Amino acid sequence: MTGVEGNVEEGESSGADRKVGDRRSRAAMIEVEDLTVAYPLGTDDDYVVALHEVNLGIDEGEFVTILGPSGCGKTTLLNTIAGLVAPTMGEVRLDGKLVGGPGPDRSVVFQEYALLPWRTVWNNVRFGLEMQKGRKEGADQRIQEAIDLVDLTGFEKVYPRQLSGGMKQRVGLARALVAEPRILLMDEPFGAVDALTREVMRDELERIILATGKTVVFVTHSVDEAILLGDRVVVMTTRPGRIRQIESISLDRPRYGYDARGTKEFIEIREHIWELLSVDAKKHARATPEGD
Ligand SMILES: Nc1ncnc2c1ncn2[C@@H]1O[C@H](COP(=O)(O)OP(=O)(O)O)[C@@H](O)[C@H]1O
Ligand SMILES: [Mg+2]
Repeated sequence: MTGVEGNVEEGESSGADRKVGDRRSRAAMIEVEDLTVAYPLGTDDDYVVALHEVNLGIDEGEFVTILGPSGCGKTTLLNTIAGLVAPTMGEVRLDGKLVGGPGPDRSVVFQEYALLPWRTVWNNVRFGLEMQKGRKEGADQRIQEAIDLVDLTGFEKVYPRQLSGGMKQRVGLARALVAEPRILLMDEPFGAVDALTREVMRDELERIILATGKTVVFVTHSVDEAILLGDRVVVMTTRPGRIRQIESISLDRPRYGYDARGTKEFIEIREHIWELLSVDAKKHARATPEGD
């Protein structure tokens, strides 16, 4: 193992261990306990196990990235925390209370921008407030602040079709932020933008999160993105998704002011995470030679 030995002592875990988050002395803000999610396939007794006995604790203010191959259950994990998918077994708690559905404390940023094409940037961001009950005072100011924060000032009257992919995702982010959630749940938010824009968006996101102090759960299948953004990287196995290992990332923040990818720590952790992922991928390829 390269440069990450300390993590194990910090309460990290391999997939075989149960209750990853629970080894901490105090309860985490978000507690995922023995979470199993199986989707029925419509026919009798036929189902897909998307997640199997996942345990994870996330602290307030933490930026946690969830990394794993396509189909390993990342979206399922995020949606269960969002309250959009119900656990088949186990539970998710927020501040010790069972998550039973979506709430104003959590906002989701989706991969496909999910903007309303007939609405301007301003009114798409406004939609984030309309989803909330009450709290309409100062709405205009909050909308403007969210638009300014994601650097879309001047584009308020523009329609989504007039925007680039990166700009659309900024609108998605502003729409999530305007509701002032404590937790941002982001599902491969930069998956659909080009590589250069993705770099810029990642830096912007770190800037915004450092400025707002939000707790973030960020799903990605990019190893570099997971390391560059995360305080911890949760490495998942192929389906059914389990947590293979959790790695703490101690690269200095902000990470956009210097070439973090050139540092020894980055190179070592990257190599280690690739190893974790590739062992699993090879096993999976042998088990299902025809592919997935
Ligand atoms: N609504 C659903 N019904 C049936 N199967 C689903 C559903 N959503 C996801 N799955 C299956 O569960 C597994 C995990 O999916 P998902 O959480 O979307 O993975 P990821 O986000 O890592 O690609 C996949 O095999 C997928 O096909
Ligand atoms: Mg997904």
